[in-house]
Amino acid sequence: MAKKGRVFSGARPTGRQHLGNYLGAIKNYVALQDDYDCVYCIVDLHALTTIETTADLKQNTYEMALDWLAAGIRPEETTLFIQSHVPQVTELHTILSMVTPLGKLTDLPTFKEKVRQNESNINYGLVGYPVLMTADIVLYRSDVVPVGIDQAPHIEFAREIVRSFNYRYNTKALLEPQMKNTEIPKVLGIDGKEKMGKSLNNHIELAATPDETRLRVMQMVTDPQRMRRTDPGNPDVCNVFSMHKIFTPAEDVEMINRECRVAGIGCVDCKKRFAENLNKSLEPFRARREEIGKTPNDVWDILHDGAKRARTIAEKTMADVREALQLP
Ligand code: TRP
Repeated sequence: MAKKGRVFSGARPTGRQHLGNYLGAIKNYVALQDDYDCVYCIVDLHALTTIETTADLKQNTYEMALDWLAAGIRPEETTLFIQSHVPQVTELHTILSMVTPLGKLTDLPTFKEKVRQNESNINYGLVGYPVLMTADIVLYRSDVVPVGIDQAPHIEFAREIVRSFNYRYNTKALLEPQMKNTEIPKVLGIDGKEKMGKSLNNHIELAATPDETRLRVMQMVTDPQRMRRTDPGNPDVCNVFSMHKIFTPAEDVEMINRECRVAGIGCVDCKKRFAENLNKSLEPFRARREEIGKTPNDVWDILHDGAKRARTIAEKTMADVREALQLP
């Protein structure tokens, strides 16, 4: 079947993935493979802007790749690779930086946020982050970039850089990417308050054992108004219920919804059921992860093969770019 175009996405190597990563990105990455030629990149260079040490970078890259493969990324058809394995991206980053107004970079809400979070290390790379991101996208002639709302300004920014570049050098060498807004559910952590994330340690890892998963689920905060087992609960404000809606069969969701409101089912019982359903849903993923993880070299081979394919596309784009620039 003819594909609709090329999708590109990147993610920083954060190691073992959690439910938030899965529901917010990976699930969508897997689905997009049916309709698009997909290029998925583990952006280790972007990671350098904020991490304090690179000691875990390799392991985190491996664990993330393993999770993606186990979740259904198909490396025969999808190009899965590590950003730094295609050095052309840094060349393009430098070239694009010349058509990027500095003021626009420092005005971006994402930059201001990063400055707040990294007060002790506001480096030049942090300013150029969206330029490197643009280089990622356009190097592979990507048509579509699926993003959540937080990354939307970066894609709009990438489109502007492409227009400036093509106009200034009177060329069509770079393709303006389209943004594909993905309806990403905001996945809350076990605290029921903040977005699920590693840094807050409120996450549930996909690759956790069933027992570890159960322990985490039992720590989940439910309807904060419900104090006693005999109080009626409100599923509409309960994070456990919102997870049930994703992982639990519809009849059971209906039952929980009904019984919670009349105190027919308690939070402990509700969470036990959720842990069971979650573990059942994750079973095939965990089996595949274990299987693939038996031969780590194969995972690295996949990443190296992906980089080879990516470099072929990249080199073509760079030839056009260098020609447009009339570099001697
Ligand atoms: N900035 C993205 C993030 O923080 C990661 C990323 C890098 C990316 N390059 C990209 C996303 C290109 C989409 C397209 O999550």
